[in-house]
Amino acid sequence: MAWNGSVLALGLLPFLSEALLPSHRLVPRTSNGKDYACKCYAGDECWPDEGSWAELNSTVGGNLIVNLPPGAPCYETFEGPLSTVSTYDAAACAEVTANFMDQRWTAEQPAALMWTYFTNDTCRPTQDPAGPCTLGYYGVYVIEAQTKEHVKAGVDFARENNLRLIIRNTGHDFIGRSTGWGALVINTHSFQDVEFTDKYTGPGRYKGGAVTIGAGVQGQALLTEAHAQDPPVQVMTGECPTVGVAGGLVQGGGHGPLTPQHGMVADTALSFDVVTASGEMLTANCDENPDLFWALKGGGPGAFAAVLSVTLKTFPEQKSAGVIVNINSTLTQDEALFWEGVRSFHKYSNDFVGGGLYVYFELMAMRLHIQPFVGFGKTLAEMQDILKPMFDEFDAQGVPYDTSGKEFDTLFDLYIDLFDDEGAGSSALTGGWMFSHQDVAENNDEIIEAFKTVISPREDLANQGGIIGHLWDAGHSTPVSNSATHPRFRNSTDFSIAILPVPLGASWEQKEDLQNVLTNVQDEAMRKAGPNGCAYINEGDPFQPDWQDHFWGSEYPRLLRIKNKWDPEGVFYTVSTPGTEDWEVIEYGTRLCRKV
Ligand SMILES: Cc1cc2nc3c(=O)[nH]c(=O)nc-3n(C[C@H](O)[C@H](O)[C@H](O)COP(=O)(O)OP(=O)(O)OC[C@H]3O[C@@H](n4cnc5c(N)ncnc54)[C@H](O)[C@@H]3O)c2cc1C
Ligand SMILES: *[C@@H]1O[C@H](CO)[C@@H](O)[C@H](O)[C@H]1NC(C)=O
Ligand SMILES: *[C@@H]1O[C@H](CO)[C@@H](O)[C@H](O)[C@H]1NC(C)=O
Ligand SMILES: *[C@@H]1O[C@H](CO)[C@@H](O)[C@H](O)[C@H]1NC(C)=O
Ligand SMILES: *[C@@H]1O[C@H](CO)[C@@H](O)[C@H](O)[C@H]1NC(C)=O
Repeated sequence: MAWNGSVLALGLLPFLSEALLPSHRLVPRTSNGKDYACKCYAGDECWPDEGSWAELNSTVGGNLIVNLPPGAPCYETFEGPLSTVSTYDAAACAEVTANFMDQRWTAEQPAALMWTYFTNDTCRPTQDPAGPCTLGYYGVYVIEAQTKEHVKAGVDFARENNLRLIIRNTGHDFIGRSTGWGALVINTHSFQDVEFTDKYTGPGRYKGGAVTIGAGVQGQALLTEAHAQDPPVQVMTGECPTVGVAGGLVQGGGHGPLTPQHGMVADTALSFDVVTASGEMLTANCDENPDLFWALKGGGPGAFAAVLSVTLKTFPEQKSAGVIVNINSTLTQDEALFWEGVRSFHKYSNDFVGGGLYVYFELMAMRLHIQPFVGFGKTLAEMQDILKPMFDEFDAQGVPYDTSGKEFDTLFDLYIDLFDDEGAGSSALTGGWMFSHQDVAENNDEIIEAFKTVISPREDLANQGGIIGHLWDAGHSTPVSNSATHPRFRNSTDFSIAILPVPLGASWEQKEDLQNVLTNVQDEAMRKAGPNGCAYINEGDPFQPDWQDHFWGSEYPRLLRIKNKWDPEGVFYTVSTPGTEDWEVIEYGTRLCRKV
């Protein structure tokens, strides 16, 4: 049915059934000669009045706040969409300045992002209080939800008033999905319950250990509690200590140190409690609402429902061993020799994942830092056997390297010792690509050339790019997926993230140029070198061509049907998730609109 803005103008709306007009509240708008129907924003006639916001505030127990960018206390005023307010506070500014690069602090904020590019880098901490502090791409209001009723109230309010809705957990997102210009944000970070059981009693065949966690629980906190069980257990999380588990991680798939043994985090999910787009609170598992259950397991973060809690399998702990390898400019200034080392390392990556290892590495100009190679359930001697061909090749080629190794009683001990915190506050674009066994076996040299392109994508960007790589095979012990993740992850060897820093204060044209470099130079080189690979929605370029196929492959059509069933109006929107083909963020990254 053709949606027609004039229906509103003629006042005919009340005579038409709401069911016939799913987008009846969208705001007509013409931009660059194209017609859109947009979400409702401050300044639009449809924006709820103060009384409605006050009512929402009382429904959510006074937990509604007007959002200020985290750097606001460093500025005299915040020129917000609702009003201009005085914000300068020297002590608060000092606190923000001291903590802006700290991921733990950032996660605790109502709406801050760890990687700041998608906040439009507005209102960063400064020594110049006279400078401008504006909303950037942040939300206008945040509900700091304490109960599931608060989450429901936020979803209902956003749906009824056609507001841009953002669910925000830790703000740990590379591609800015937990922020959105002019949005109502629901922050689920206070949902911190953790409950273990030895014997899962829910539906399905699985009767082993399980843990139910609130939406806000972060990786390291969960692993710490798992370790305190008697006996200690393991849970699948990401490698990063502060990444959430029930938010973007499981809903995007989720890989971590146990991926070789247990697949993606999504493969280990048993049940979700959620609030749906229509405001229903329900359970999704293999018996109840199985279609939604499947989609929540890797089908796209923030796209299908607001998650309140998830139940995940737990696993017995095992002794583990970890190895570190460095090849960098401290050891050699010879670029050719350096790349020879990278090539040899990567050449054996099929053997590493075939041996059940997980490997995390960072690659930039003249710096390969592999920390760690993880051998879950392995001794150091067993690890050394798997790594020997690589070391032999380093030696034969004269590649200088530094290495050390260590055994641990549990994987938890290894995790605490060998995985580092990552910094917050940097501004960068990220892409990424998975190379399959076949790609590594057939194209290793091309993959290394692609890495060089990622690091130096253009003459004026020489040595500015970087790679965060992860070697794992999600199909090593779980050859068949039970989740919505791309089937090709069952043949994965290397999932590598491409990073391209963006200078602060870059103009729109500069940003477009760098986005083009990410999509069409860096990622394109990796895609060409890995024709049997795929992309990962949590660590990928949302603006890549064929994103549906790259992110989900043959699972996409089913995900699209499920999205249309559970959220036909697009209450939930996250970039490049199923069903967002008709939606576009227009006008320099601001209004979210449906194309008409
Ligand atoms: C430093 C760093 C390290 C990382 N390491 C790993 C890793 O080891 N393995 C891996 O697989 N990924 C990793 N990631 C990617 C990570 O999985 C995603 O960024 C993920 O989206 C983070 O989820 P979050 O809930 O913590 O973050 P948020 O930024 O708060 O949310 C991310 C997305 O999830 C949605 N969301 C959050 N909470 C909810 C909820 N309760 N209900 C519905 N939707 C929700 C948001 O709307 C948003 O779309 C890493 C990212 C970074 C920045
Ligand atoms: C919501 O209510 C609380 C408690 O009464 C109050 O402190 C807060 O300022 C209110 N939020 C808004 C946006 O008015
Ligand atoms: C975003 O930043 C650009 C500069 O890159 C600026 O021109 C634009 O006004 C900003 N938009 C918002 C909404 O902050
Ligand atoms: C380079 O390698 C040396 C030797 O292992 C190591 O001590 C140093 O930390 C490495 N430097 C970087 C920047 O990784
Ligand atoms: C994985 O590889 C095997 C053999 O190498 C092949 O039969 C299978 O089709 C591949 N699966 C996917 C999803 O690519």
